[in-house]
Amino acid sequence: MERKELLELLNGLSTAEKIGQLVQLSGDFFDESMDVTETGPSEKIGLAEEYNLYNTGSILNVLQADKIYQLQKNYLEKSRHKIPLMFMSDIIYGFNTIFPIPIAQTCSWDFELIEQSAAISAEEAYYAGQQVTFSPMVDLVKDPRWGRVMESPGEDPYIGSMFSKSVVEGLQGKQANKIEERKLAACVKHYAAYGAAESGRDYNGVDMSLSKFYNQYLPAYKAAVDAKVKLVMTAFNTLNDVPCTGNEWLNKQVLREELDFEGVLITDYAAIEELIAHGYASSPSDAARIALDAEVDIDMKTAVYANHLEKLIEENVLSIEQLDQAVLRVLELKNDLGLFENPYRGLVDESVPTAEDDHREVALELAEKSLVLLKNNGILPLKKDKKIALVGPYGDNANTLGMWAINGDPSRTITLKTGMEQVFSESYLSFAEGAPLIENIERLGFSSNITAGKVKLPEYDKGALLEAALKNAREADYIVVAFGEHVLESGEAGSKTDLRISEAQSDLITQLAELNKPMIGVIYSGRPNNITHLIDKFDALVYAWYPGSMGGLAVANILSGRSNPSGKLTMSFPRNEGQIPVYYYNYRTGRPIKSDNENSRFTSRYIDESNYPLFPFGYGLSYSDFRYHTISASSKEIKEKEKLEIRVKISNESNVQGDEVVQLYIQDKVASISRPSKELKASKRITIAPHSTEEVIFKLCIDDFSFFDNKGTSVLETGEFIIFVGSNAEETPLSLEISYIAS
Ligand code: NOJ
Repeated sequence: MERKELLELLNGLSTAEKIGQLVQLSGDFFDESMDVTETGPSEKIGLAEEYNLYNTGSILNVLQADKIYQLQKNYLEKSRHKIPLMFMSDIIYGFNTIFPIPIAQTCSWDFELIEQSAAISAEEAYYAGQQVTFSPMVDLVKDPRWGRVMESPGEDPYIGSMFSKSVVEGLQGKQANKIEERKLAACVKHYAAYGAAESGRDYNGVDMSLSKFYNQYLPAYKAAVDAKVKLVMTAFNTLNDVPCTGNEWLNKQVLREELDFEGVLITDYAAIEELIAHGYASSPSDAARIALDAEVDIDMKTAVYANHLEKLIEENVLSIEQLDQAVLRVLELKNDLGLFENPYRGLVDESVPTAEDDHREVALELAEKSLVLLKNNGILPLKKDKKIALVGPYGDNANTLGMWAINGDPSRTITLKTGMEQVFSESYLSFAEGAPLIENIERLGFSSNITAGKVKLPEYDKGALLEAALKNAREADYIVVAFGEHVLESGEAGSKTDLRISEAQSDLITQLAELNKPMIGVIYSGRPNNITHLIDKFDALVYAWYPGSMGGLAVANILSGRSNPSGKLTMSFPRNEGQIPVYYYNYRTGRPIKSDNENSRFTSRYIDESNYPLFPFGYGLSYSDFRYHTISASSKEIKEKEKLEIRVKISNESNVQGDEVVQLYIQDKVASISRPSKELKASKRITIAPHSTEEVIFKLCIDDFSFFDNKGTSVLETGEFIIFVGSNAEETPLSLEISYIAS
């Protein structure tokens, strides 16, 4: 449709019909027998009797093609203007083929591969009739107590922005205006700063300076907007005491004006109504007024817009222009999706073209690149002629897809046992569970019907489990222990204060360690856990996160050396919960710890623990041995229009080909506000053949050296910068200084 026709359509709608376009409901409102996918509180929402369902604009989380077809058909038959429904859902890291969880994906530092995985998710979901996905989630997070770490890109603004852009471009196509076939419209979330929830408790308030907001939290949302993301989702939290969903400064000034976002702003689940619980709105009607004033277009899963907007407009509290502006954005999105031409987009009659094997190959590659080798005393890769006992509740567990794989099918998931049987056919010996994964599931409070919630706890006898595992382990040369957190211990509302692995699993590990056999740990989790007390018990440790459909094979390939580990952490691992938040880019204080005496008093330190994380950002081991040699810059000065080239030489001193993720950080030595100790500005993943050397060239531009001050203004100041290059945030053996002189 041309814009002129869209405007005509808009003008032909009654106020009630317009409002309907802003209402999002779940499928059961149209068909009570529908088994809907619940991703939030499921109380009925109290729609007024006079609300006409057949004015509704969009539907949430119906995943099956046949149901979407029926809903659309029925709707088009009954609605006056026949404006197609729009179907939206949470396709966060895969639809049929499940990729590793986002925090794991970013550990690959392979943004092209991440983009490819998002394109596959879009394609698979498209053929199930999906049109919009609530992805990417790009909330920067420094606190692993927060359960949504699993779906975040981690602690760094550069990584968050690269991830954000890659996912939007994978889902929508590059800089797409129209959303083509096999693509989805993307929705970046949760705007803004949702990952900074105080105390790591989900939905909790957020307080931060403007410089932190602009320098650290905003860039990843901005990267999505720059990549032409079609929707933005408001966050549940308050930001500096104002709930994001009703925050005019955030939504109008920053999002619409400064970032120049023209698309649809949708709330998170029931977030308009929650303005009342925040104590920010006095009634549902007041909440409707506040949200529309803040240019929120779609009301997800409440009756607030449906029941109250019309009266507010009649009484001139809100204007019809405000309503029209929101409705037009929704109609434009439907138009960009081609729904007016084809309301059954993606629902093809002929059999769906499937490239599932190819998709699973990409999932395998991404899983292998996402795994992080945290420790290796030389035991890995495992020798082929030895006998391996696989032990632990994740040894043969397919529920390793993470909370947000809402269409994921555990029966299509390769467990570690299956992967190891395939890879270690001669030396694989036995499997025993050893300990329960979790003993009390009630506390998780999860009643939803999404995939992760359907799993029942098996019956077990703890003593018998342990005995069987010890027996197997005694007969083996190597013990591989697969353990971690239950998938529902992370994800939405999965905040925790104790980040250690459960007692039953820790006991199992202690008893196995007493056998004094080489022991390798594989940890499955949605967050960095506190593993300080366990690390010495292992000869090698692999962090598997939740690795997706092909996870078991990926881990087996790494253990066997078929694949060389290359993942690098995108979030620091705390030594204990008391250190949180611990992250790489802020160790500058007026009283830094002294490098020659960490124990001196009156410095910024803990008297019972190191300041530094157990494993820093950027860390991850390889079977290769990389050395950093030389660094040079194309100029001693940063110039306005010229790119600064930084060249570094890195060699592989081993007999094994491997991938290294080379990281470039800067430090602004002196500025008008105190700047971080190090900031990641570029990275390159390179393959280096055995005993050879490669040169990596980084190109930095002037913007890499500017920052936002405490008024939210971007500034570039005369001064000196240090450039560091290395293999993680703490190990940067190469450095040089450059300067900028403002003209
Ligand atoms: C609530 C979550 O916060 C959000 O990420 C998700 O997209 C919506 N529910 C819809 O399921």
